Amino acid sequence: MESVQTVERRFACNDGELAPGESMTVPRSGPGTVAVAVYRNDDGAYYATADTCTHEDWSLGEDSDLEGNEVVCPLHMARFDIRSGEALCFPATVALATFEVVVDDGKVYVL
Ligand code: FES
Repeated sequence: MESVQTVERRFACNDGELAPGESMTVPRSGPGTVAVAVYRNDDGAYYATADTCTHEDWSLGEDSDLEGNEVVCPLHMARFDIRSGEALCFPATVALATFEVVVDDGKVYVL
């Protein structure tokens, strides 16, 4: 899936604040924006997708399990690739939008 970009750079956290294997939610920043889930995989790389599971209304940044580069929604066990947003199994069939993440001067931003 093609990356979706927000109009402004949004601060997520300080670099290192999110441990490998963890995720967090960056709230909407205004009209036309969506909440974004930021993940840090076991290698320390950051990825970001839309926060809401495409199956039902569930925050992946606040409550999910990160297994390598796959996020598992605990509500009905859908899996997504955090690099591409691709839905990997039922019940989700629609990919998550993805966002670019940049680390600048020790701070992590979502674009
Ligand atoms: S809400 Fe995520 S799998 Fe159902």
